Amino acid sequence: MFVFLTTVVCELLIGHCCARMHSVAKQVDHGGSPAVALRVTDKEVVMDNGILQVTFLKPQGFVTAIKFGGLENLLEIRNEETNRGYWDIVWGEPASGNSSIEADGCGPTLCQYKESWLVVGTGFKIIKEDENHAEISFMTTWSSVIQNSSSNNHGLPLNVDRRFIMLRGCSGFYSYGIFERKKGWPAIDIAQIRAVYKLQRDKFHYMALSDKIQRVMPMPEDRETGEPLAYKEAVLLTHPINPTLKGEVDDKYQYSCEDKDNKVHGWISFNAQVGFWVITPSNEFRSAGPLKQDLTSHVGPTTLAMFHSNHYAGKDLAMSFQQGEPWKKVFGPFLVHLNSVPPHEDPLKLWRQAEEKMIVETKSWPYHFPASEDFPKSNQRGSVEGRLLVHDRFLNENPKPGSFAWVGLAAPGKAGSWQRETKGYQFWVQADKSGSFVIEGIREGSYSLYAFLRGFVGDYKYQSNIIILPGSSINLGNLVYEPPRNGPTLWEIGIPDRSAAEFFIPDPRPNLTNRLYLHDEQNKHRQYGLWDRYTDIYPRHDLVYTIGVNNYRRDWFFAQVPRRTRNMTYEMTTWQIVFLLEAVRKGRNYTLQIALAAAAQAELQIRFNGHKLNAKPDFTTGCIGRDNAIARHGIHGLYWLFSIDVPGSWLVSGSNRIFLTQSRGSYPFNGVMYDYIRFEGPPRQDF
Ligand SMILES: *[C@@H]1O[C@H](CO)[C@@H](O)[C@H](O)[C@H]1NC(C)=O
Ligand SMILES: *[C@@H]1O[C@H](CO)[C@@H](O)[C@H](O)[C@H]1NC(C)=O
Ligand SMILES: *[C@@H]1O[C@H](CO)[C@@H](O)[C@H](O)[C@H]1NC(C)=O
Ligand SMILES: *[C@@H]1O[C@H](CO)[C@@H](O)[C@H](O)[C@H]1NC(C)=O
Ligand SMILES: *[C@@H]1O[C@H](CO)[C@@H](O)[C@H](O)[C@H]1NC(C)=O
Repeated sequence: MFVFLTTVVCELLIGHCCARMHSVAKQVDHGGSPAVALRVTDKEVVMDNGILQVTFLKPQGFVTAIKFGGLENLLEIRNEETNRGYWDIVWGEPASGNSSIEADGCGPTLCQYKESWLVVGTGFKIIKEDENHAEISFMTTWSSVIQNSSSNNHGLPLNVDRRFIMLRGCSGFYSYGIFERKKGWPAIDIAQIRAVYKLQRDKFHYMALSDKIQRVMPMPEDRETGEPLAYKEAVLLTHPINPTLKGEVDDKYQYSCEDKDNKVHGWISFNAQVGFWVITPSNEFRSAGPLKQDLTSHVGPTTLAMFHSNHYAGKDLAMSFQQGEPWKKVFGPFLVHLNSVPPHEDPLKLWRQAEEKMIVETKSWPYHFPASEDFPKSNQRGSVEGRLLVHDRFLNENPKPGSFAWVGLAAPGKAGSWQRETKGYQFWVQADKSGSFVIEGIREGSYSLYAFLRGFVGDYKYQSNIIILPGSSINLGNLVYEPPRNGPTLWEIGIPDRSAAEFFIPDPRPNLTNRLYLHDEQNKHRQYGLWDRYTDIYPRHDLVYTIGVNNYRRDWFFAQVPRRTRNMTYEMTTWQIVFLLEAVRKGRNYTLQIALAAAAQAELQIRFNGHKLNAKPDFTTGCIGRDNAIARHGIHGLYWLFSIDVPGSWLVSGSNRIFLTQSRGSYPFNGVMYDYIRFEGPPRQDF
């Protein structure tokens, strides 16, 4: 009767597990599932609930074994015990002086960061232990006193309390981390925080992160025997152990996704018929809002829970702490979920069941079972609701519903600042068709309310700060967003949606493909080497786009990148937009709205008509961006919006040209992705 135990949600089976289901669950017994047991020895801690058994090194807190589904250990037994299940942090001391300023003039790089630093516990504690629930803690404590070499505390001024929770009847275990800096501690920059699981390479060959993105993966050895491509993460598989993968490109960044979608991913073992999944039910503790992209799972077989990184953002997203700056943040909990099917059943069922499990976990957020007071329960949190309307006077006389807008709370700041915010919590929801939104489960604190939506440029911010107290229930009523706009649309290119997905995305080179994406239009941008196709299509002359003649889906290359020369250097490119104006109003201003979806060490210079490359541009962005989204197959990085005044005197009646020069051309990955371009006439007199 309880054979489905390992795949069904724990919340249905145990009474104290999920607040929302409390009244129902009370009547349910434990289905005969054994009590949770903790066994603590000198060097190890074992957590066991009869479904799985997890072994930790004590007091370091490394996960060394996960026994489940007939397998003694799902983790890679050939790896050292410190290299199977761990947390690590990439950090550095803030760059001093000019040391980190690169010659490109684009500002600091990340080169001052040390290698990743393993989080090693120095203290072990049992937080809670009864038959239904065990929670343990591995504590890493910083001390300003110089540490000796055996302490493995190489000076990262941070306390880390890693917690692991096992519940009765639950096929998996939860973990979360409480990170803290006290007043007076030294300055640091943190580039990345994550948890890592490395699975048995002989068992787990099939990876899944969405209904479409799932496949048989290469072996780690294949990356050694293959041919590295333009950077070390991308490898052409020349001698793969599984011969059907020969000729494909492997790159972990091909499996990134936006944080809003990064909820469940992992691996399936066909021979053992088991699945291993990382389920992240909330995005509240991740940096930089819903569109931030990050890694999921990749060849190893490796599965990550990414909490913070500057992937697809660059230095803009370093978590920078000043000397003395205190901070506390809880990352997680996330669930390591295990499932299994009997030998005669389709192992791909494991993915669908993991997805179902993810939905139940998401609905149970905020969890009520973490013992730490630093993780507030639902009755200690608040909510905000309202309705977003958009009023673009040049499109509609009256405000329209902000259909499907993203609305969120993040640290107080300027409109749009959430995409660079890393130290606090963010709470985002997507409004419904009418623009109505309800944000629940918000932690106590002071926030700004932000919004953005497809079809409109720019960022909304509610005028006052939102103060959330335990039990707050705030109704903001109707909010009206007036997106940037000075005059009527004369022409436009693309769709304002913070992505370059609607533009022309070339086919990859036939000898450099990931076959998973060959017949998948939606994920075509994930192919390797697309930047290099620009030169194939435009070997000598750059892109020229004529309004009214060209179609951006076909004729606007998804990224403005440098051109490869015959001697394999790269040179800057200048694109042109050609458009007709009937009667220019010389004394008035026109407006060019340029929204960028990504920028990597790029400088966009704009010149109107009389084009002279060596003449001072009419407008320049200056060097911007280190999001590296072009090399990482992201279809966007960070969002930029430039509203440029164009005096009528720069324009002529008849044919006009705008020259868009990406002037930083030394690397293949320098460049920008456009999101949307709009040319507006002078404002009407009557406004
Ligand atoms: C640092 O940069 C500034 C501005 O570019 C320059 O004037 C100064 O000489 C540099 N200092 C050092 C130590 O390189
Ligand atoms: C080094 O540090 C560890 C942990 O703080 C301590 O247990 C040990 O006694 C120290 N060893 C020496 C030689 O000071
Ligand atoms: C792929 O094919 C192109 C010719 O189309 C060739 O120039 C290139 O070297 C090949 N790349 C690899 C990695 O084999
Ligand atoms: C490479 O070629 C470009 C033009 O094709 C030329 O401007 C440049 O000087 C060449 N560089 C070298 C190092 O030969
Ligand atoms: C046009 O824009 C320029 C530059 O922003 C500004 O200085 C000028 O006042 C504007 N002219 C009119 C007529 O609005």
